[in-house]
Amino acid sequence: MQFKTPITIALSKGRIFKDTLPLLEKIGIHPLDDIKTTRKLILDTNQNNVKLVLIRATDVPTYVQWGAADFGVTGKDVLLEHGGDGLYEPLDLKIAQCQLWVAGYPDADTHVRRLRVASKYVQSARDFFHARGQQIELIKLYGSMELAPIVGLADVIVDLVETGNTLKANGLVPLEFITDISSRLVANKASWKTKHEDCKKFVNALRDVIEQE
Ligand code: ATP
Ligand code: PRP
Repeated sequence: MQFKTPITIALSKGRIFKDTLPLLEKIGIHPLDDIKTTRKLILDTNQNNVKLVLIRATDVPTYVQWGAADFGVTGKDVLLEHGGDGLYEPLDLKIAQCQLWVAGYPDADTHVRRLRVASKYVQSARDFFHARGQQIELIKLYGSMELAPIVGLADVIVDLVETGNTLKANGLVPLEFITDISSRLVANKASWKTKHEDCKKFVNALRDVIEQE
């Protein structure tokens, strides 16, 4: 795949990078560096005009929103927190699939007034409980949320669940389903206009790959 204009794609290290690389490979894009050993944050690819930037998962929408990257791959969970300003979301890549749940001890009552909820996903948590008219106290955490009910910091948490093993290992269970999560391709709105031909080519090629999976 050849591009006429320079294209920068923002990815986060870990799960998203690992799951996105095979998709890029299928449309003829791969990094030149050894991804297992490189400490570089900007990776050249076999395509002259295509670069990958490696950033924190929660920073991907911000880089794309401000045009520091034309495209990004980010979890729907991260997008819901970010709000999606300045972004198009042209494609569900169907990778890094999991679900967002309210979780806690099996006997937790999730309908009490002023339920104390700890989460990294404060926007999604607020939206979920407010949608049914329930007032909650929200405690923002940045990780290890399973600890919160155990030490009495919160009644419940809002967290991602895939196999349920992390909850189970900590004596917790999923209590209420919030939404399905997968990773999305996001595009900068200005790039979408100014580099439209290349952007469409990239999105269409990825769409074809996903539809064949
Ligand atoms: P940060 O580096 O900012 O802490 P992170 O640790 O959340 O980010 P990852 O664990 O790589 O980064 O997760 C990236 C994305 O993958 C998440 O935003 C989510 O959409 C998805 N994800 C997270 N955990 C799982 C899981 N257990 N199974 C499937 N997908 C997941
Ligand atoms: C994610 C998420 C959950 C766990 C759920 O954590 O935050 O804790 O996966 O997956 P499971 O239901 O299959 O156990 P991850 O392993 O990515 O660690 P992190 O939060 O430290 O990034």
